[in-house]
Amino acid sequence: MKFTASSAKLADLKTDCLILPTGKKLNETAETINQLCDGTVTSALKSREFQAKAGETLIINTPNAPIKRLLLVGTEGAQTQQQVIKVVDGAAGAVGKTSSKTALWIGDSLSEDTKWLAGLVARSVSTAFYSYKNHPKPKSNSLKSLGFWLPKQSNPQAATKAIRAGLAFGAAVGAGMNSARHLGNLPANICTPSYLAAQAEQLATTGESSTTITTTVLNRPQLEELGMNSLLSVAAGGPAEPYLIAINYQGAAIEDKPTVLVGKAVTFDSGGISLKPGRGMDEMKYDMCGGASVLGVMAALSELQLPINVVGLIPATENMPSGTATKPGDVVTSMSGQTIEILNTDAEGRLILCDSLTFAKKFNPDTVIDIATLTGAVIGALGKEASGLFTNNDKLGQSLLECGTRCGDRAWQLPLWEEYDKLLSSNFADMANIGGPQAGSITAGCFLARFAKDYQWAHLDIAGTAWVSGNNKGATGRPVPLLMEYLNSLVDSLVDSE
Ligand code: BES
Ligand code: MN
Ligand code: ZN
Repeated sequence: MKFTASSAKLADLKTDCLILPTGKKLNETAETINQLCDGTVTSALKSREFQAKAGETLIINTPNAPIKRLLLVGTEGAQTQQQVIKVVDGAAGAVGKTSSKTALWIGDSLSEDTKWLAGLVARSVSTAFYSYKNHPKPKSNSLKSLGFWLPKQSNPQAATKAIRAGLAFGAAVGAGMNSARHLGNLPANICTPSYLAAQAEQLATTGESSTTITTTVLNRPQLEELGMNSLLSVAAGGPAEPYLIAINYQGAAIEDKPTVLVGKAVTFDSGGISLKPGRGMDEMKYDMCGGASVLGVMAALSELQLPINVVGLIPATENMPSGTATKPGDVVTSMSGQTIEILNTDAEGRLILCDSLTFAKKFNPDTVIDIATLTGAVIGALGKEASGLFTNNDKLGQSLLECGTRCGDRAWQLPLWEEYDKLLSSNFADMANIGGPQAGSITAGCFLARFAKDYQWAHLDIAGTAWVSGNNKGATGRPVPLLMEYLNSLVDSLVDSE
């Protein structure tokens, strides 16, 4: 899909669908559009067919006007960023229902921050058309291009540049979300560890642009050589081969310390010998959504050519029961040297992440963020709204929280106090892999923190946010927006310090 910036005269506009966000009171632009469409906007308001409430949409066909179709979008009461994001998402969904080839978004309402708004519009429109159906290729859509319209500004060049940057950012984030969703939705018999490794290898570039991506895939003998016995203990049930996938995105000088993103990719989590109950077990194909979000982010970075260094690490394995599977009570020595008593083989995410966090040190990271569908308990705590955030650095935590609010992909922080950490004690090893029935998301976070002492680190528990269940079952693409907002904020701080 093509996104463009426009400030053409309203009377000259030609589009299949003009998207007009408006409150009950029309601004100057809305008034002009109303006149061009023979007063349809005011009559829809008068008849109360359209009440301009936030989230409300109305499609009006206007065959006689140069604009074929009007999509009215209510903005009344949309104040917070979150409310505006909801309005934009709703409008994008409604465009999807018309079979328009071209559309134009009137951008002079909803927010003064037009770069932010343009980004949201591009993201929402890109994701609104995603459909898993017709695998392996997502269904193609009718919309070919969307313009973002603003009235002529006092500095038109700067305004257009900002809008274009916003659109490019939003489109890349949307595409990254869609690819994460698609990988998440793929069944576990297709989306195996080796399938994910192949996807990562496809991201690798030849180096003709200013940035490069190199992918390295470590196989079982290499993981053995590194002493990643904790990761390997999860793969012991087999038969799928486990991999540790490393994707190196270099957008800045080689001396610049990278941000390392570690994404849990259990391509199917049966629980292992601590077998899960059958109900809803199909959804454990989504247990690789952390890894999928890292792949989505790497694709978006490469699209945007951001001037930063980022490493994506994806430990990929199945968690299956068998005669060779790890048993409750087994003790393994992790790559860090710390020993772990595996009391529950279903607490496997932390076992693959801990060795990856140790491995991350090789990249001399500035910051490490892991992303994982780690605990059912986080759904009890935060529901499906927020990802759980855990960190050993409050400044990093604050920054992630703010980025989440800005893009509507929100997180909420939970504590890592030592009182919780103590719950991991074991009589037979340095720690157990579970902390008992209480505060399950926090003890999981405390477990990871023991392997992340040498750098600033945050952990996102996305068990509640990575997919939705029920009739609309499907991956959400979260937290690609949050991660991209954060990485982009690193670029902005580079500009600020110039
Ligand atoms: N992948 C699951 C977490 C999960 C469960 C995500 C349900 C989404 C929905 C994870 O590997 C797991 O099984 N965690 C256990 C931990 C427990 C054994 C301490 C859990 O949450 O029950
Ligand atoms: Mn599990
Ligand atoms: Zn799991």
